[in-house]
Amino acid sequence: MNLSLHRTAVSDGCQLTVFPTANDAADAVADHLITTVRRNPKSVLGLATGQTPRRVYKSLVDAFLEGEVSFRDVATFNLDEYCGLAASHPDAFAAFMKRELFGLADFDPAKLNLIDGAAADLAAEAARYATLLHKSGGIDVQLLGLGTNGHIGFNEPGSAPDSHVRIVDLSHETLSANQPGLVELRSVPSQAITLGIADILNAREIIMLATGPAKATAVRRSLREKPSTDCPASLLTSHANIHWYLDSAAASALG
Ligand code: GLP
Repeated sequence: MNLSLHRTAVSDGCQLTVFPTANDAADAVADHLITTVRRNPKSVLGLATGQTPRRVYKSLVDAFLEGEVSFRDVATFNLDEYCGLAASHPDAFAAFMKRELFGLADFDPAKLNLIDGAAADLAAEAARYATLLHKSGGIDVQLLGLGTNGHIGFNEPGSAPDSHVRIVDLSHETLSANQPGLVELRSVPSQAITLGIADILNAREIIMLATGPAKATAVRRSLREKPSTDCPASLLTSHANIHWYLDSAAASALG
């Protein structure tokens, strides 16, 4: 079944597929990840949070429940975490991952790498995570979502292409964009720890999933304008193996 409206090569290493709906795009991303894990059960996956990947994770769980895939030997690294939140806090990305994916399939807790947002020494925590990532041999497939301001992970506009795991201040746009997704907190924490742009670019393969009209401008800036730190996702165009999965709304400003 080919649900894509069109599939194009933006450049040598960059594929773009536009799907009729957000669910179609998410299902295609889930298929991509399932194929990856079936080919290499020991894959190292880089995972994202946010509303966009929820359908992807549901499809992965469904595939597991149907006996189509096992995640037993998969290792994961999450992109980011809010500062100040313990893994058990409902608004922590660690708790999101447990609710949406890790707690619903056969992941091995020992292979799930998460940032401790409640660590007493956050700089040391960032350094610990960077070391873990390095020791793992790197990410095979990195799943990304897109901020309305073009951020990836929590690499806000201005983030350097050679940035690594670090503590960042969140922009006003991100604070308000993420507010509706909060479970318990009334406002979004002002800082986070995130993988850097260089860490993301080091992944052997990148999947970007962007859906909905709110992402259309960031998609156009990322794919049609000159790469610039003003739009962090535009820096992905230098990657040798990236696939953009969009729905028609997110692709609407591409022209
Ligand atoms: C957060 C995450 C990003 C995510 C972005 C978009 O800021 N740190 O990794 O891509 O939100 O989220 P959503 O999918 O909810 O639009």
